[in-house]
Amino acid sequence: MKLVLASKNRKKLVEMNDILSHLGIEVCSEAEAGVDVEVEETGTTFEENSLLKARAVMEASGLPAIADDSGLCVDCLNGAPGVYSARYGGEGLDDAARYRLLLENMRGQMTRAAKFVSVITCCFPNGDVISARGECPGTIAYAPIGEGGFGYDPVFFVPELKKTFAQLSADEKNAISHRGKAIEAFQVKLEEYLHQ
Ligand code: IMP
Repeated sequence: MKLVLASKNRKKLVEMNDILSHLGIEVCSEAEAGVDVEVEETGTTFEENSLLKARAVMEASGLPAIADDSGLCVDCLNGAPGVYSARYGGEGLDDAARYRLLLENMRGQMTRAAKFVSVITCCFPNGDVISARGECPGTIAYAPIGEGGFGYDPVFFVPELKKTFAQLSADEKNAISHRGKAIEAFQVKLEEYLHQ
């Protein structure tokens, strides 16, 4: 089975394939499906934005489409950057500038609890929708550590492993990450759906 990933992020495509390939599911990019969809993420929840993206790509490609809407929610910032994680500080910033802004906005904060959230939604051409959520708790480090991953990985510290996401291998990250958990829950729902 082939699903189109509603995202331009190559690293998300690799992560999705790493996790779903053993189910015999191939996740292809929008480019491979011959579509290029710009979706305005106007929702205020991960669920809404994930659905908006998956539905738009399903409608454009005519194929089942899967979207992940994810982000980092920091307790002392009342859940920010949340659904605005990719746009935190404005469109002009790169990943490093965004996590530096986050550290700046948390300067002096001793309470550094945070969580990554991912909501995966798959829209089928017949109108069916499957959705699953995953969360990964952690804390925000005082300075970036590690070279791996993307986004806020260098500042997201996992106390149990005493490492940031950026210090984990892809397999280590997938085993505990919000996206790994959402995909795991999604897999269960997808298998039920396919065998109903
Ligand atoms: P989305 O593509 O709209 O879901 O944006 C999600 C944003 O949240 C990304 O651009 C990253 O800034 C951040 N994010 C989501 N998942 C991760 C992750 O696994 N590591 C680091 N940052 C992430």
